[in-house]
Amino acid sequence: MSPVLDYKKTTLSPFELKEQPSFAFKLYQQGCTNSWFPKEIALAQDKAEYDTKLSEMEKHYIKYMIGFFCTAESLVANNISYALYKHIDNPEYKLYLLRQAYEEANHSVTFLYIIDSLGLNRQEIFDMYKTVPEIGAKKDFEEKFTRDLMDKPEITPQELFKNLFGFYAIMEGLYFFSGFLIGLSFGRRQLLRGISSLFQYILRDETVHLGFGMQAMRQLLNDNPNLMTPELNAELRDLMMQAVELESNYASVAMPEGILGMNKNYYLQYCQYIADRRMSALKLDAIYKVSNPAPWLMTQTDLPELVSFFEVSSTNYESRA
Ligand SMILES: [Fe+2]
Ligand SMILES: [Fe+2]
Repeated sequence: MSPVLDYKKTTLSPFELKEQPSFAFKLYQQGCTNSWFPKEIALAQDKAEYDTKLSEMEKHYIKYMIGFFCTAESLVANNISYALYKHIDNPEYKLYLLRQAYEEANHSVTFLYIIDSLGLNRQEIFDMYKTVPEIGAKKDFEEKFTRDLMDKPEITPQELFKNLFGFYAIMEGLYFFSGFLIGLSFGRRQLLRGISSLFQYILRDETVHLGFGMQAMRQLLNDNPNLMTPELNAELRDLMMQAVELESNYASVAMPEGILGMNKNYYLQYCQYIADRRMSALKLDAIYKVSNPAPWLMTQTDLPELVSFFEVSSTNYESRA
């Protein structure tokens, strides 16, 4: 029987819940505790500031940022629905994926709320993956990870690892966190504080998503000691470098001039720093070895209650969670 049709592997039955729930079940509970709804935050003040205080370049960046995030949220949801849920058997992982899928839907609705509140054109923003080649290139790069798995009846642990790397280390771990750099910078300048609060909520969710994916990859490595071959190691390094290059191309059009005291080089250095953190968390060699140009952001992304989800090893994860 295909795994996807095996009800015991598709749902979490009470008898399957171990006395010591796995990290995935704990993250499911954490996700539920973090529940929030976009309209809890009023955006009227943000709209007034958007109209009167933002420069044309800042408005341009906001459009590009939201344009990418709208596409990205759907890509992550598709990867869960069409690739991961089909191929992962562990019922606690599946439970977590259902929770994550809901949160991605909530994020999509949040971006819609921001678009409408600022008076932007929905169609224009949602179509940016078609009209802006640099956004389309990131979409194509990510979508390939889903396509590689979705039609296969069976996959190898290596294939699963590559998909997790593409979506959790790169999409959520690199692209989303780079977007947060600028998104949260507005709030730091006392601008668009409502939108900045929504970004904080999304960041909290994404940190847990990232934690799930990174821990799932570490578990795969533990369970399959021969998984990490020199060839796969080189391929992952190449994928991360491609991803950073695509992000650099995107930054060139999203922020052709500096905004909020940042320029493209500052942004790119942050991307490289984050890329190395994701590599190191998987015990892969760092690529860029640059310092963090935005240490202030770490006070937001490294909240004590969140740090254990995405930085620590599988061994000390259990003792810190
Ligand atoms: Fe999301
Ligand atoms: Fe996510």
